[in-house]
Amino acid sequence: MKIILLGAPGAGKGTQAVKIAAKFNAAHVSTGDLLRKNIKEGTELGKKAKEYMDAGRLVPDELVIALVADVIKDADSFLLDGFPRTIEQAKAVDRITEIEKVLNLQIDETLLMDRLTGRRVCKECAAVTHITLLNGADKCALCGGSLYQRSDDNETTVKSRMEAYYKQTAPLIEYYEKQNKLINVNSGRDSADVFKDIEKILMQRSVNRVSAAEKKYN
Ligand code: AP5
Ligand code: MG
Repeated sequence: MKIILLGAPGAGKGTQAVKIAAKFNAAHVSTGDLLRKNIKEGTELGKKAKEYMDAGRLVPDELVIALVADVIKDADSFLLDGFPRTIEQAKAVDRITEIEKVLNLQIDETLLMDRLTGRRVCKECAAVTHITLLNGADKCALCGGSLYQRSDDNETTVKSRMEAYYKQTAPLIEYYEKQNKLINVNSGRDSADVFKDIEKILMQRSVNRVSAAEKKYN
């Protein structure tokens, strides 16, 4: 499986990616998570990326492409979350490997600010949740770890992230439509319902691949 998850900040890419990776045994590659790991570890890349991320701007293409290229070069099964995010990044992916499908998580923009400013992340297991699901608790429901708020989940930075999305990432919708790879998913619904739709799409994809292989050998 070689899948891309496309969508605005807060569309639910990370939430769905965790479920897809577990169900379909694919590596979950999130550039946001990889960059935050570099910031935490104080690497040179982390130092360079931090100022862009805090401002809600995209990290320069060459840095992000180098980060992902090695991971996907020889991998058979992966799910890209938050990458590619520019046409330049998409072209780089096309030079490295053949993507099967691009799932575009569509959502009404008015839902995003609440989702992002209310998001909490577990320091221990990185699980993502929302304050409305915590009922006042301040620990992770999965592992009991402490929760924190991402430093870019404040109103000002979210607005900049949205601008970057519309200007630099939304053009990828047309890019993948032209490649006949884009499938829209309504992600403004309950997370379990969104996953059911994604599951159906990905199961159908396996059926199609088996029939194509059968045709080839019959
Ligand atoms: P990144 O970490 O990728 O952030 P993002 O794209 O802004 O997306 P988010 O992670 O904020 O949202 P999500 O869609 O994953 O939503 P989630 O599932 O968590 O990137 C951060 C920064 O890194 C960028 O701004 C940039 O600077 C840099 N960067 C990263 N990749 C880059 C690249 N390729 N090129 C250049 N720079 C790059 O859900 C959000 C909230 O909503 C949670 O609280 C969740 O519980 C809730 N929620 C999710 N689904 C539902 C649902 N169905 N119903 C109700 N609530 C829901
Ligand atoms: Mg995410």
